[in-house]
Formats: sequence, structure tokens, C-alpha cells
Amino acid sequence: MAIAVYPGSFDPVTLGHMDIIQRTSQMLDHVIIGVLQNKAKTPLFSVEERVSMLKSVTSHLENVEVRSFEGLLVDFVHSCKANLVVRGLRAITDFEYELQIAQTNRVMAPDIDTIFLTTSLKYSYLSSSIVKEIAAFHGDIDEFLHPEVARRLREKMNR
Ligand code: PNS
Repeated sequence: MAIAVYPGSFDPVTLGHMDIIQRTSQMLDHVIIGVLQNKAKTPLFSVEERVSMLKSVTSHLENVEVRSFEGLLVDFVHSCKANLVVRGLRAITDFEYELQIAQTNRVMAPDIDTIFLTTSLKYSYLSSSIVKEIAAFHGDIDEFLHPEVARRLREKMNR
């Protein structure tokens, strides 16, 4: 059985992430979205909020599950009894960082492979950081986010 972990910060989940989740769920038996709780960073949304948004926007995908994790990704993958990590590649600028993570993880855990999906061209420019910046200046974010996530981001920015 092919069980994959799709890890990330998802602060917040964008349509680019959702494109990767959707395609991965069609290819593999089970997909666990791993939401990183990184105490060294201060995300806009708490880990509980990020998990809740991801659950809400993936509720139609039966083989997708959402969990949070702390610490090393490889330990989380082992705890999920998964053997694959999925990451999206938007552009060549992503490649060096992603290669570094994948190779480090492979040294630490040779039983785990990383597979890369190229992001659909439509979303190749998209990032959570850019969307947050647009929202901070009250720009239109509806093109980039699921309506539920857009609503929660507006709500957060208006506080
Ligand atoms: O969405 P992001 O912020 O690009 O995701 C980065 C992520 C979560 C994949 C990466 O930071 C990660 O795996 N962190 C867990 C800590 C870890 O395992 N570090 C060693 C390999 S970099």
C-alpha cells in the first residue's frame, strides 16, 4: 500500500497546495497531510487553525487525512507507517532547497523516498506568503484560495 505524507506549513493552504493534494490522492492509496508546528516560527494561523482549514477543504477526499507534527519529518513519516513524502515543485528556484531536504531525509531514513509533483502552471507563482501580503493590503485573494480559507484569512486580517 502506498501511503504518503505531504508536509508543509500551510499558513494558509492555497489552491496550489490543493492541486497537489488532489492529484496525490488520485495516485496513492492514502495521503496524510502533515502540518508543521514549528515553535521557532510564528505563523499567522495557529496549528489548530491550519489543521481545521485543511480538514474543511479536503473533506471530499476520502483517502486524505490531516495531522499536525513537531520535530523531524522522517520521525513523523515513520509514525504514520508511510514510506513516501510528497512535495510540490513550482519553479527551478524551489529545486535546490527541496533537493537538500530530500537528500538529508534520505540519509536519515533510507526507507523513505521523496516524490515531486510539478505544480500546475496556473499555480506556479503562488505562495502562502504572497497571498498573506495581498490580504494585508486588502487585495483580492479569491483567485488563490478556497472560499472558506479566503474567508478565514480576511477575518484574521480584519482583527
Ligand atoms: O511549507 P514549507 O514551510 O516549505 O515546509 C517545510 C517542511 C515542513 C517540509 C520542512 O521544514 C520540514 O520537513 N520540517 C521538519 C523538520 C525537519 O525534518 N528538518 C530536517 C529536514 S529539512
